[in-house]
Amino acid sequence: MTAHDTMIPTGTELRAEIDRLRKERNAVILAHYYQKPEIQDIADYVGDSLQLSQLAAETDADVIAFCGVKFMADTAKILSPEKIVVLPDMDAGCSLEDSCPPDKFKAFREAHPDHIALTYINCSTEVKALSDVIVTSSSAETILQQIPADQKIIFGPDRHLGGYLNRKFNRDMLLWPGVCIVHEAFSESELLKLMAQHPGAPVAAHPECPPHVVEHADYVGSTSGILQFAKTFPGNTLIVATEPHIIHQMEKALPEKTFIGAPGADGNCNCNICPYMALNTMEKLYTALRDLEPRIEIEEGLRIAAKKSLDAMLEMASGTVGMGDLGRA
Ligand code: 13P
Ligand code: SF4
Repeated sequence: MTAHDTMIPTGTELRAEIDRLRKERNAVILAHYYQKPEIQDIADYVGDSLQLSQLAAETDADVIAFCGVKFMADTAKILSPEKIVVLPDMDAGCSLEDSCPPDKFKAFREAHPDHIALTYINCSTEVKALSDVIVTSSSAETILQQIPADQKIIFGPDRHLGGYLNRKFNRDMLLWPGVCIVHEAFSESELLKLMAQHPGAPVAAHPECPPHVVEHADYVGSTSGILQFAKTFPGNTLIVATEPHIIHQMEKALPEKTFIGAPGADGNCNCNICPYMALNTMEKLYTALRDLEPRIEIEEGLRIAAKKSLDAMLEMASGTVGMGDLGRA
């Protein structure tokens, strides 16, 4: 630990210093719903992947402090290259990104020259540059419905989201075999036990969950979609099959209702907490704003190539989520 590191403030002083630095740097703090509650609470905006991309493209801040995972911060830099984009912990990756090495994805594309690549935003900048249109879980359905039924499609890297879209829209997209380790860990038998303990409580699931979880869900959608469902379902108890930090927003909005995170394999493991998202802390957010490091840098040719598929998403997704739906902390 360096002398500089020991000077990190704590408690209310830490929050006040983050606030001071945010103003001094003309920074905007963007946080994903899977971030720790204290990070969600200090952020300027809390949102899903699509909303945070839209904000990154539109902000007039000089600095974007991205409290999420690396592919999200990369997306912010691709869309706003003139801004300084910092990620509190550069090791905050994603198992879906890791599952899809660009060289293997390129070979897969070349083996299917008559297919277009519709690619989930949870991938590297290199894979975005090899793709035609990017989707997020909140924009995938709107975008897929704009693609002619006879167009052959490769969908990667999440086979569960791709499979869900195939079933819902009767498509036969070729699926890359990637999974999210967090959503893969939900247990069907434990979910059934929980449902039996709370008869009538609806289940809301993220489409990254495997089919044996999704098939029990009353609502399937993105983090912002699940949050919207939580605000409108008529009962008192909701079972939530996605990363449990989103429950913070539900409890803030509806303190009188009960939100229960769906269990993992042994019923009480921590396997549904995203280990990558958890790397970001208030202390690291503070040092990122103080030092303007770790900073996202992307080679310009690669950035321009990746921006095409992201621009296609933003255009095709327009209208998917109203900016008024954003969870302003
Ligand atoms: P959303 O776009 O629904 O926020 O999902 C992001 C993600 O990484 C889910 O695991
Ligand atoms: Fe990636 Fe899964 Fe974490 Fe989302 S929850 S960032 S898909 S590992």
